[in-house]
Amino acid sequence: MKVIIGGKNNIAIGVAKHIKENLPDVELVAVFNRNDDGVDGHQLSFKKYCLENDLRSVSLDEAYVEKGDVFLSLEFDRIIKPSKFKHEKVFNIHFSKLPQYKGMYTSALPILNNESESAVTFHYIDDGIDTGDIIYQKVFSIDLNETAKSLYSKYINYGTQLVIENIESILYGQCSGKKQSAVDSSYYSSSSINYRCLEIDLNKTAIEVKKQIDAFTFRDYQLVELFSTKVLGAEILDEVSGLKPGSVISENEQFILLSTVDYNLKVYKDCLDSLLEASSCNNLTEVKSLINPFNINEKNEKGWSPIIVAAYHGSLDVIAYLVENGADINDINNNGTSVFMYAKNFALKSFNREYLEKLIDLGADVNLKDFHGLDVFDYVAMNKQQEQIEFMEKFR
Ligand code: TYD
Repeated sequence: MKVIIGGKNNIAIGVAKHIKENLPDVELVAVFNRNDDGVDGHQLSFKKYCLENDLRSVSLDEAYVEKGDVFLSLEFDRIIKPSKFKHEKVFNIHFSKLPQYKGMYTSALPILNNESESAVTFHYIDDGIDTGDIIYQKVFSIDLNETAKSLYSKYINYGTQLVIENIESILYGQCSGKKQSAVDSSYYSSSSINYRCLEIDLNKTAIEVKKQIDAFTFRDYQLVELFSTKVLGAEILDEVSGLKPGSVISENEQFILLSTVDYNLKVYKDCLDSLLEASSCNNLTEVKSLINPFNINEKNEKGWSPIIVAAYHGSLDVIAYLVENGADINDINNNGTSVFMYAKNFALKSFNREYLEKLIDLGADVNLKDFHGLDVFDYVAMNKQQEQIEFMEKFR
């Protein structure tokens, strides 16, 4: 059987990897997105993965005439003409709760519209945009403090899971699709948001202002600027606004207090760089003054969060405080390197057993594998230092 995957990011890689490892009779072929430059970013490059794993690639026109059995569009960037394929198994996963939010920017628009749910939807591709019959759908909640980046990450994780769980039926079975309702349907084109000129309308209620900020918060693309300051998240206070909407009530290093149509809004200034710096040198006082619900699990371009930086530098006080306040002790960077893997680098410098034991007490999982399929013990084995291998073996 030949399966052609058109797409990008961790979802295309996750599904390709699963097929490669579990379905040996499948030949995989790839079609890359036009902007895949072969370099890993906050999402890994599908092109890079395919080159490293000897997966053949073709253009979309070649894919149409290739003798394939299934075409999977996983965050693919072009409109497909299903009738050009010689088979009918032409599928897409769309990041929304179809029939709602067909089209673009589905990590931003449901937040902007204050939706409480979204979904990943696996459907047949027909001649319209995200209009095909629905085969599988996984609905999940949009949290109060959801940002575009955290929602995108949910789409990637739930979407990969949905395709992998059903892969045998998708490839070998007869998928039955359900027609989309016309009544609940909505569509947004590329002109629905102008990312080059984002403006926040402050003449709105607190939740409406907050949701605008959260919907455009995606560090790898942009952060919102308010009064020329980059901001990251907003919290609604239980104080009725007395001033004109959009007035600054007060401001300090950490936040701007804003008046809105109804309640006052605490808008946090972005301070990730300072927070990472304080985490690296176990400066608990500084970490306490900088931390808020939005930056506690925030990551820089390398995928480093405060807890990852603290783990690498052995900042135990900061790690304990971060965990107590909601940080993920099993957080990973863009390559899947876990907090415990970072911590082992510090521990090995002085064979500090207690340090790793404390992390395990806090919930660190020693068996996590990164995106190359390697765990902490594999990495220590690669160094070929017997003393280090023996030291780490005790944590297995
Ligand atoms: P993208 O991968 O282009 O997919 P889509 O528009 O189909 O969702 O973008 C993923 C999300 O990233 C998108 O839903 C909204 C967000 N985004 C930004 O925050 N800024 C930008 O400049 C772009 C292009 C996207």
